[in-house]
Amino acid sequence: GSLEMYVDELPQMPKIYGFSMRYGHPTPIHLTIGMYQKKWKFHRDLPATPVFVYGTSAATATFPGPTIEALQGVPLSVTWENHLPDRHILPWDPTIPTAIPRRHVSGGGGIPTVVHLHGGVHPPQSDGSAFAWFTAGNRDTGPAWPTSPAPYTYPNIQSPGNLWYHDHALGLTRANLLAGLLGAYVIRNPATEAPLGLPAGEVFDRVLILADRSFNSDGSIYMNSTGDVPRVHPQWQPEYFGDAVTVNGKAWPFLAVARRRYRFRIINASNARFFNLSIVSSNGGGLIPFHVIGSDANYLSSPVTTTHLLVSVAESFDVVIDFSKSTTSSPDAELVNTAPYPFPDGDKPNHLNGKVMKFLISPPPATETSTEYSVDDSRIPSKLLEYVAVAEEEASKRRYIVMYEYDDDVTGNPTHLYINGKRLEDAATETPEAGKTTTEIWEVINLTPDSHPLHLHLASFTATRVRRLAGVDDFRRCMLKLNDAERCHVGRHVAGGEEVAVAEHEKGWKNVVKIAPGCMTTIVVKFFMVDTGKPYPFDATAEPGYVYHCHILDHEDNAMIRPLKLIKSKD
Ligand code: C2O
Ligand code: CU
Repeated sequence: GSLEMYVDELPQMPKIYGFSMRYGHPTPIHLTIGMYQKKWKFHRDLPATPVFVYGTSAATATFPGPTIEALQGVPLSVTWENHLPDRHILPWDPTIPTAIPRRHVSGGGGIPTVVHLHGGVHPPQSDGSAFAWFTAGNRDTGPAWPTSPAPYTYPNIQSPGNLWYHDHALGLTRANLLAGLLGAYVIRNPATEAPLGLPAGEVFDRVLILADRSFNSDGSIYMNSTGDVPRVHPQWQPEYFGDAVTVNGKAWPFLAVARRRYRFRIINASNARFFNLSIVSSNGGGLIPFHVIGSDANYLSSPVTTTHLLVSVAESFDVVIDFSKSTTSSPDAELVNTAPYPFPDGDKPNHLNGKVMKFLISPPPATETSTEYSVDDSRIPSKLLEYVAVAEEEASKRRYIVMYEYDDDVTGNPTHLYINGKRLEDAATETPEAGKTTTEIWEVINLTPDSHPLHLHLASFTATRVRRLAGVDDFRRCMLKLNDAERCHVGRHVAGGEEVAVAEHEKGWKNVVKIAPGCMTTIVVKFFMVDTGKPYPFDATAEPGYVYHCHILDHEDNAMIRPLKLIKSKD
């Protein structure tokens, strides 16, 4: 039978502070965070589940990992340690481009891992290159492993916002995240954020990490061990979808809330599932809106109110929800999901994963001052933080980026997906100039039937235009024969189609943008600090460089990922 919903309380993950107050003011520190195998209770009625998780010790490791609390302007250095066992808890397909330790025998020989801080503005050496993987005790390492390994450094020079850290090992990202190697990382700045007056503090400002999983009856995580085209890839499937929706490591949890405003930093850490979220009051009380104040690692410049929030894989939205408007006849509200899967045209039934969590709203106070929470002095300010303007006309280069799925002749099922027909190992073609305020326009053309969440490391970008492609089939047919110049030519001709609006709350500086199928999406990319307008204050051209990729993890692993190599400015 299926698990009963709303029986476990929503946990808050433990916090690790990325600074010390020992001398009365914030000072930089060094942290050691490990990866451990342990067991995690996802639900009251489910046996404990073997997981791979982050923590400062095996005892304190959690699913998701601890929330790292950083301060803007206070750098943090972290040594990431792999304490994982010899064998993976999930299937591992050796036929896709993947990290394989020397002693690897059918899933054994150590677990390759490497940590990426998603949304972080940091030097390439600390970016968690897919090729810089390492197994327990660094016994085996990938080709980009440094000759003199140093802790990763996160300068935290960027504006306050929501980041997350997760595994990025070559070909293993989907299995390592599915196993639990993910956690939130929040950058704060009391000087700029306190005046905003948003809901604050442990109780009213929370991270919500959403992740779908399927479980076997013994509690273990279910992951398919047979591929869609097993003749080519014995295990790889193009998308992992689970029946259960977990929030902060509990399946369909509940949270008791007071009648006031709360801030939720929502991160979708699923492999492939998009969520179209809304909050439905019970007893026909209607929808409670989201006041969106930030997306990905940045604030919006002003809040946007919406009743539906489409959150793709790896995307995050920072929202304020006001429970004080709820009527007495609707004492609770469900956070529900209506996104089809695969998104947007999948036709799988949406029942179990159509529910996310439940808010139990406290009854209205008998008198104005009868409960400690009845006084809500938070607000939703009309202006948030300011960043540089999109300024499309400042672009020095226009690139065409084509997403393409390769299908098996016999079954018609996908065997792999590439960007511009190229592999990760092929020489970098996206080589923006560092050391100055480089703006580029990327025209991203999606020739597949699915939406792909495009993610760039380091850079921030905004989608300015989405146009439907005319003649997608022609384009598909000739796509493989094209060189860059021709692709660009076709791109110009194909995108004559109708315009699709970009949602108001998605117009801020983002690091993940949904690229709709059959469309050309124009994104304006800034390869400099979008908050100060200044070049990166470190050498962004160093090895091993950065990457950009589709953040559906099963696509990224096989192999919708390309190098992003910043080069020295020519002037
Ligand atoms: Cu969230 Cu390349 O990663
Ligand atoms: Cu994809």
